[in-house]
Amino acid sequence: MELTPEEKNMAEGKYGKATQKAMEILVTLGEIYGAKRLIDISSVQIAGVSYANLNEPGLNWLADMAKDGEVRVFTTLNPAGMDLEEWRKLGISEEFAEKQLRVVEAFGKMGVITTCSCTPYLYGNLPHFGQNIAWSESSAVCFANSVIGARTNREGGPSALSAALVGKTPEYGFHLDENRQPEVTVEIKAKVQGTYRFGALGKVLGDQLGKKITYIKEIPKASVEELKSFCASYATYGGVALFHMESITPDKVQKIPSEMIKVTEKDIEKALKELDDDTDIDFISLGCPHASLAELEYIAKKLKGKTVNPKKEIWITTARPTKQVADRMGFTKIIEDSGAKIAADTCCVVAPIRGRFKGLASDSAKMCYYGSGRNKFAVKLMSMDECIEEALKQ
Ligand code: F3S
Repeated sequence: MELTPEEKNMAEGKYGKATQKAMEILVTLGEIYGAKRLIDISSVQIAGVSYANLNEPGLNWLADMAKDGEVRVFTTLNPAGMDLEEWRKLGISEEFAEKQLRVVEAFGKMGVITTCSCTPYLYGNLPHFGQNIAWSESSAVCFANSVIGARTNREGGPSALSAALVGKTPEYGFHLDENRQPEVTVEIKAKVQGTYRFGALGKVLGDQLGKKITYIKEIPKASVEELKSFCASYATYGGVALFHMESITPDKVQKIPSEMIKVTEKDIEKALKELDDDTDIDFISLGCPHASLAELEYIAKKLKGKTVNPKKEIWITTARPTKQVADRMGFTKIIEDSGAKIAADTCCVVAPIRGRFKGLASDSAKMCYYGSGRNKFAVKLMSMDECIEEALKQ
């Protein structure tokens, strides 16, 4: 890879050890993927924040990088393993909390904005069309590429931190026009409405087509909430980082692919069935990806004056800034008066809750995937209304 004089200085350690390490990671990646140069990025989003994933080696690595590392671009974090302020109400142990706070402290020391969320685009880490970024949360990567039209590869935690410390990323993959063209057309011949059905569609496409870049036709409309659910599911089941949706994706398509598949009502029903373990529910997770303010308002309206079954637990995960506005608007009080819990900064996958519950209900196909695979819960994908009804069922 060709480096500028400044980049060479970084690689030689003239900007400190952390930047030198970061350059080593970026150059290695660039060489593996055939990048010719590093390019400027406008923002970074770093995954690998939960202590449950990092453990001691990860924490030590971050603490080491934080000795002299300082980010050069606007950088935010993915969810942590707990609500950073109200972790006790979620039943998190003191020991875990102490480690998790040290992780976040290390990021903060490097100048990272320590809002921990998988929907950075909802609260200020929002690129515009065509901007190069280096994000790592898979659902946010898919949303950034496909809905916003920004350009990012699916970074790992270390490569995203490295990009933040250098302010650049190697130019390969989805940063290049030629890798952003669709390969197969998908005609939707089914009713796709609501976060859970968009999630089911993500599973159908991911299962059938894997990483192939799709050109999706005949979705009459989609809200931001439906798109974030779709992106999360599609990225989970197919490993997808980019799709084109007619009338949504701003990238220009050179040619609509002639290879074509149809998705019918039957496909959606099959996906819903596959995500129904026919189980008793004792845990309900909403806010995957992190709930928007509109979702919190909707949930507050549904829960107003009602009481969640005390034998069940319901977590609504969201970003701290979103919760702060919800506090001001009175949504938090209404939700928490019902017995439901708003969990900011965290997510039910990276929180240390394996074995605490048996049956999980969620309106997110991604949550069902990890709830089953990682946390060993039986799962059921349902609409948001059905999830709330399930929580209230005595
Ligand atoms: Fe976000 Fe966790 Fe879902 S990171 S997308 S809430 S699994």
